[in-house]
Amino acid sequence: MNRRNDSKQAALNEHFYLNSVIATLQGAKLMGKGSGYGKVILFGEHFVVYGLPGIVSAIDASTDAEVTKAVKGLNVRDERKTAKGYSEEKRLQQVESIERMMKAMGIDPKTGLDIWIGGSLPGFSGLGASAASSVAIARAIAQELGMQVSDEKINQVAYEAEKAYAGNPSGIDNTAATYGGLMWFKKDTTGGPDKVEPLHVRRPIEIVIGSTGKVANTKAMVEGVAERKKNNPANYDPIFRQAENLAVAGRKTLEAYDLKKLGELMNENHRLLQQIEVSSKELDALVDLARKQGAFGAKLTGGGGGGCMVALTPGKDLQGKVASAIKNLGFEVLSTKVGVEKY
Ligand code: PMV
Repeated sequence: MNRRNDSKQAALNEHFYLNSVIATLQGAKLMGKGSGYGKVILFGEHFVVYGLPGIVSAIDASTDAEVTKAVKGLNVRDERKTAKGYSEEKRLQQVESIERMMKAMGIDPKTGLDIWIGGSLPGFSGLGASAASSVAIARAIAQELGMQVSDEKINQVAYEAEKAYAGNPSGIDNTAATYGGLMWFKKDTTGGPDKVEPLHVRRPIEIVIGSTGKVANTKAMVEGVAERKKNNPANYDPIFRQAENLAVAGRKTLEAYDLKKLGELMNENHRLLQQIEVSSKELDALVDLARKQGAFGAKLTGGGGGGCMVALTPGKDLQGKVASAIKNLGFEVLSTKVGVEKY
């Protein structure tokens, strides 16, 4: 080929290359993306707020977010599958949570953002859906604005966001949503770094999560416990001591993989949650049903007052049996596992 033909070919190549770049930019809207894990608490919800230890596991469902810069305002399109009324109940808290995140990330509050939220984690109370969405949104904002943000910082930002939903959060939900896996969590109530230790089990364990379908207000539940604890220390102090012992025993039992004992300890944890008045008749009914169907143990999970319960159902057969029984009563279930190293 002579030199003239060479330069013609080069010009043609460039033409096709530029056209393909333009087509890609037009086809794929550029945006920031992020995800956060959902979770179940096996031991210690509510007690963790006061610096007692808890055990939490991420589940194989997450919230995803996509963010693009907008001319003005915060425009949220929430396409998560939710319990009836969940999005409406949480809308104001959601806006406050995003404003808190922007502040914690040092972003000008006048920055306009279009935010989409979806993913496989249903908006049921108790599964850490608010923390999962905060982690997802914080990651997506960071990517959209070209900020390099570490997981540690994302976790701090989501903790600030959680204050909008929980008032005085422990940090257990945002930590699970950020890092995933199974973990031991202990809040440092003096403001220092929380104690977070990954836990390892021989094999992941099947669980069934049952949703009462009732939307709960975590903030009101946390405040209710604080109020009753303050007014009734003689009753509450011994319950709190038992909760601490239970989490310690739960950890040993998990690590020894004694699942029968683990279930009994979860039952015991449910009893303590009933005593601090965060269970409900629907939660108690689902917990009883799961136990009658052979679950090794069952308890409410998360803030309570509605929301979800979790049943320990090792093996696919038992898991299927408990899940069907709950479904047959008309409640939604999620069959998953705890102790998966990382989903
Ligand atoms: O209901 P959820 O998924 O928001 O879980 C709340 C857990 C609490 O222990 C009640 C509050 C907290 O911040 O730890």
